[in-house]
Amino acid sequence: MPTSPRFDLEEFADKPVRSRRSWDPVVKITHWSIITAIIANALFTEEGSGAHIWVGYGLAAILALRLLWGMIGPPEARFSAFLPSPRRALAHLRDIKVGKKEIHPSHNPLGALMVYAIWSMLGVIIASGVAMAGPPSTAFLDRAAPSGAVSRQLVVEQGDHDDDEQAEGAGREDGVWEEVHETAVNLLYVLIALHIAGVAFETRRSGREILLAMLPGRA
Ligand code: HEM
Ligand code: HEM
Repeated sequence: MPTSPRFDLEEFADKPVRSRRSWDPVVKITHWSIITAIIANALFTEEGSGAHIWVGYGLAAILALRLLWGMIGPPEARFSAFLPSPRRALAHLRDIKVGKKEIHPSHNPLGALMVYAIWSMLGVIIASGVAMAGPPSTAFLDRAAPSGAVSRQLVVEQGDHDDDEQAEGAGREDGVWEEVHETAVNLLYVLIALHIAGVAFETRRSGREILLAMLPGRA
């Protein structure tokens, strides 16, 4: 598999266009849509509500599209352009220390680790959310109660003893997924803060228009 190329700035001195990072519309749209879904579920939807789950499945679909794009998209968007490599991330840190600047046509090695960390955390959030909500066919049926755990509690109150034990077992399982979901969401917030700080730092350090490249209108 090809590895991410490293370029010296001098090599690119007479190639101003390629020295700018550029992202295709799918990368840009999925980036800002993922942010919108996270903000919606963090601030506006009720935890475990139908809206929360709809947004959650939307987020899963957007992430799936971006991951597919990592295999069939243009060179900069492909996983092969920013393979996770702790060794190269350390080399990048050394470059920062000595003030050496390199052009990376895709995410720099440190940024790449952050991208995979964010995607993995989103994967855990989606998996634990789906584990609590059930597959799409059943996820939206019983959403009058704030959560599956609560509606199972009603079954406990109404059903016979066997049902009680089953429902309590399911409730305990939901409790575990709830913990996983909540912890992953909190870790995601930490990663997001580091990501934004990283973008700001790299923009200052490299003098490149890193943020502009992620905005509409710059192909
Ligand atoms: C990044 C996006 C998301 C954020 C920020 C988020 C946030 C949260 C938070 C803070 C809770 C409350 C956890 C607790 O303290 O009990 C919660 C609960 C829940 N979330 Fe999400 N969530 C997200 C994505 C999803 C997804 C993708 C699904 C499923 C498709 C989902 C399904 C649920 C369900 C069913 C609950 C209810 C848990 C309970 O029984 O109380 N969430 N979410
Ligand atoms: C919920 C918050 C955010 C999440 C989850 C997030 C996640 C990501 C991910 C996964 C990527 C990789 C894009 C890809 O290859 O598809 C990325 C790249 C990027 N993000 Fe964010 N992001 C968030 C907020 C922001 C904000 C607020 C900004 C602007 C200040 C920003 C600016 C960027 C930029 C400039 C890149 C490209 C970095 C590079 O050129 O290597 N992000 N982000």
